[in-house]
Amino acid sequence: MFSWTVLLFVLCGVLPAPCLCCDWLKHYGHHSNKSLTLIRLMGDKLTKSQVSFPNHFYRRIQNAQVESQLVFVRDSLDLILGLYNHDNFSVPVTWDTDKKEHFLMSIYRQIDGLNKTCVTTHRPADIKLRNYYRKLGSTLARTGGSTASWEEIRWVTKLHLDRLDLLVSSIKASAEASKRRSTPRHSQH
Ligand SMILES: *[C@@H]1O[C@H](CO)[C@@H](O)[C@H](O)[C@H]1NC(C)=O
Ligand SMILES: *[C@@H]1O[C@H](CO)[C@@H](O)[C@H](O)[C@H]1NC(C)=O
Ligand SMILES: *[C@@H]1O[C@H](CO)[C@@H](O)[C@H](O)[C@H]1NC(C)=O
Repeated sequence: MFSWTVLLFVLCGVLPAPCLCCDWLKHYGHHSNKSLTLIRLMGDKLTKSQVSFPNHFYRRIQNAQVESQLVFVRDSLDLILGLYNHDNFSVPVTWDTDKKEHFLMSIYRQIDGLNKTCVTTHRPADIKLRNYYRKLGSTLARTGGSTASWEEIRWVTKLHLDRLDLLVSSIKASAEASKRRSTPRHSQH
């Protein structure tokens, strides 16, 4: 644990700015794959729902700074986790409890990894993002926690996870490109 911290510290001193001291990015593919697989398998076949999707959040964040993008990913995952830990309504009994638990664990691990290695801000998530997820959660209350509304949430969660996966892939790609650009070649003087 200690040596990892030191290593990260040393690496961050050596790597060119902006330093993406973001160990989590290396493992993201694995975790993302796991959560996408689990959300698909934890209930019946995912069915397309009428819930509208907030494309504008993703369009806006596409051109933001990497720091803001990582905060957006962390906050989105945190709000998604909150949906499934609803105070008053538990998920449908037809869902596989183990898979659901593993799904939530995998989302939790991603947030934890982001908090520990990438994102330092503790500010609450963007108010519009929070309101969006709050509204999504309130569909449960309106329907008394019906299976149909849980399935809508699962469907739209899958869409969010897909988009977040794309966003992180683009962050990784641009981080690697900028590392290549700023790493001096031996043949140059
Ligand atoms: C997860 O990884 C496996 C093996 O590499 C691959 O076959 C599968 O399509 C991936 N699943 C998702 C949801 O990306
Ligand atoms: C759960 O129900 C209580 C009492 O009806 C309500 O005050 C609270 O806001 C509900 N919680 C959520 C997350 O909807
Ligand atoms: C991550 O950090 C946010 C903001 O400080 C906090 O709300 C959240 O509970 C943390 N989550 C984990 C899993 O560390």
